[in-house]
Amino acid sequence: MDTLTIRRPDDWHLHLRDGAMMRAVLPETTRHFARAIIMPNLVPPVVTGADAADYRDRILSAKPRGSKFQPLMTLYLTEETQVGDLRAAAEIGLITAVKLYPAGATTNSASGVKDFTKVKRVLENMAQIGLPLLVHGEVTDPDIDIFDREAVFIDRVLDPIRRDIPGLRVVMEHVTTSDAVDYVRAGGPDLAATITTHHLVINRNHILAGGIRPHYYCLPVAKRETHRRALVAAATGTDTAFFLGTDSAPHTDTAKLQPCGCAGCFTAPNTLSILTEVFEQHGALDRLENFTSLNGPAFYRLPANDDTITLRKGEPVSYPAKIDTDDGPVTVFDPGMPLHWRVIED
Ligand code: NCD
Ligand code: ZN
Repeated sequence: MDTLTIRRPDDWHLHLRDGAMMRAVLPETTRHFARAIIMPNLVPPVVTGADAADYRDRILSAKPRGSKFQPLMTLYLTEETQVGDLRAAAEIGLITAVKLYPAGATTNSASGVKDFTKVKRVLENMAQIGLPLLVHGEVTDPDIDIFDREAVFIDRVLDPIRRDIPGLRVVMEHVTTSDAVDYVRAGGPDLAATITTHHLVINRNHILAGGIRPHYYCLPVAKRETHRRALVAAATGTDTAFFLGTDSAPHTDTAKLQPCGCAGCFTAPNTLSILTEVFEQHGALDRLENFTSLNGPAFYRLPANDDTITLRKGEPVSYPAKIDTDDGPVTVFDPGMPLHWRVIED
């Protein structure tokens, strides 16, 4: 098989940033993706319906001409989030989900939640109206080893919340462990997970062995190889609870290459080539469409896209090592293997 036609994909977890950075990275997503869940961790974050409406307008006006790309907006949950504002934004279709960052867990998460009892009423309302909660699943307790933070989050935070608020629909974002995969598999129809492109490719050795590679540093940090294999099995398998959220998270090289560099891998330009390569390597090309284009809409109760894209296999495809932005260059994720599939038709 050397061509593959699939329903047009969506990205269920994307950082577009704002201003010059957004203008530079947005076309990398709109080229192939129909929709994306837009992360709200701007500075300051997108916390109210009005913030989300303004941010959506800025995205729509930065969109390449003729593009039908649809940004699906999210609110950043804080201890001050107002039920009325959130419900109103959901009712008019302005927001598609709400994002929970434990305070301090990742880039721009200082306004996140410290005391989960303070957001209980909001979560109960979300369960009532079926609005998904997207979870950055890592504890921030400095006593917990960074490689254990996702597994501990499930036991200490996520499982208690889900028991406390039956019917709450949850997406565990960018899962990185077999613990999370097992938890999601057993979680029933109200629980799903996104998996990133880069976590299907790298393990922690890629970041740390033979020299430190800041462009592979993201949060949650990649774990050991057994976990990467569990993610590949989940993504390429038949369980519809797993779908693509690239977590493409651009930072300038200056921000990445610091004594204390930012977390995030920028995968928007080459994601589809990488995913197709990985699925082919695992004999699962026939399940790529489920992961990129069908399972996500099904969980979000949205129709799959009507149109398709076609990928063709050939000589290795090259992508630019960096893209230029008015804020400075941003390095594109290097999968460390030749990529043979390219999108040929849109
Ligand atoms: C994201 C970012 O840069 O905004 N970084 C990352 O490493 N994934 C934040 C996030 O999703 O955790
Ligand atoms: Zn993210």
